[in-house]
Amino acid sequence: MQKSDALDVERIREDFPILQREFDGQQVVYLDNAATTQTPKQVVEAISEYYYEYNANVHRGIHQLSQEASIAYEEAHDTVADFVGADGREEMVFTKNTTEAENLVAYSWGLNELGPEDEIVLTEMEHHASLVTWQQVGKKTGAEVKYIPITEDGYLDMEAAAELITDDTEMVSAVHVSNSLGTVNPISELADIAHDHDALIFGDGAQAVPNRPVDVKDLDVDFYAFSGHKMAGPTGIGGLYGKEEILEDMEPYLYGGDMIRKVTYEESTWNDLPWKFEAGTPSIAQGIAFAEAVEYLEDIGMENVQRHEERLAGYALEQLSELGDIDIYGPMNHRDRGGLVAFNLEGVHAHDLASIMNDSAVAIRAGDHCTQPLHDKLGVAASARASFYIYNTTEEIDKLVEAIDDARELFA
Ligand SMILES: Cc1ncc(COP(=O)(O)O)c(C=O)c1O
Repeated sequence: MQKSDALDVERIREDFPILQREFDGQQVVYLDNAATTQTPKQVVEAISEYYYEYNANVHRGIHQLSQEASIAYEEAHDTVADFVGADGREEMVFTKNTTEAENLVAYSWGLNELGPEDEIVLTEMEHHASLVTWQQVGKKTGAEVKYIPITEDGYLDMEAAAELITDDTEMVSAVHVSNSLGTVNPISELADIAHDHDALIFGDGAQAVPNRPVDVKDLDVDFYAFSGHKMAGPTGIGGLYGKEEILEDMEPYLYGGDMIRKVTYEESTWNDLPWKFEAGTPSIAQGIAFAEAVEYLEDIGMENVQRHEERLAGYALEQLSELGDIDIYGPMNHRDRGGLVAFNLEGVHAHDLASIMNDSAVAIRAGDHCTQPLHDKLGVAASARASFYIYNTTEEIDKLVEAIDDARELFA
């Protein structure tokens, strides 16, 4: 285990007991972090502490347990809001995940604001969470969906973006860090172009918030979404940032308890932000543990996380390129990437490759990574993807490369 330039990986690994698991005597090499990251003890303990010590429903209780749960759950919004530079809990809605955040805005804003004269601009590297959602909004409202193309080397074509985004554009939805190409997209530049045309911009931060400092005010996005389970937190919780004045104007997405202020048999009025968008009993333990994950990452320092991920991505690009018969997707400069590399070994289906890797206890992902149209464009049905996090090491990337070598021999 090496000490990274940026962070003490050996120390960090002690917080993740799952990394000690062995399969057939081989210690697991977990390189599927873009799908979901592992959870440190501190976050698991925050969940058990909630259930052991102050499990109760939030907002509505007078009793002590409910008060404690309410304070912890509400303050978790402040912690997560602060982590991404939002102004406060009013701008941080807890959702189930990034997908639900996209749908919330699509239903609540998109279906109410868009019509046949309008255009929605996406990128060709959108995750299905954004692509399918806005595509359906387009179908329901008559708004046309357009795509910013990608260049040969996996960057967004910003000249095309400047032409595609026009006064007819009402929404630009763009992935910040691509989960397939790894590309870090210039979200603030896109925000400038969108705002020049009075359009809104939604940033998909599912792969960005876990691995680099993100400030939604610097990016000047109108909405921005991310998932707890991709950043050392639990499943079932995610964050939707929205500018307060825009969220204020939006209709609720789900109706029911907790999101109301006053209800009569005829009429209802809505609660304050962010509760207006959190109908019913929320994911209380997960919300509290989400804040714990954020504090865990803050202790490490997001600049350090970014440096570590770039370093691992650079090492993986170098080692994989040396193999020769590997097609790598996305930018070859690791500084333009998040900590992931998607690739194909020539002549071997990605699923077979992942399965052989599994025999060596190396966990990678194979498939289209919820970017089917992008894979169509790349001319492949699937790719293998290795993705890194704070506990991964260059030695583990060596194991990945060795396992690819084994696969190559098997298929020779
Ligand atoms: C870029 C991107 N956007 C959105 C999502 C969807 O995240 P979730 O499944 O947590 O909703 C993912 C998950 O892989 C992703 O990588």
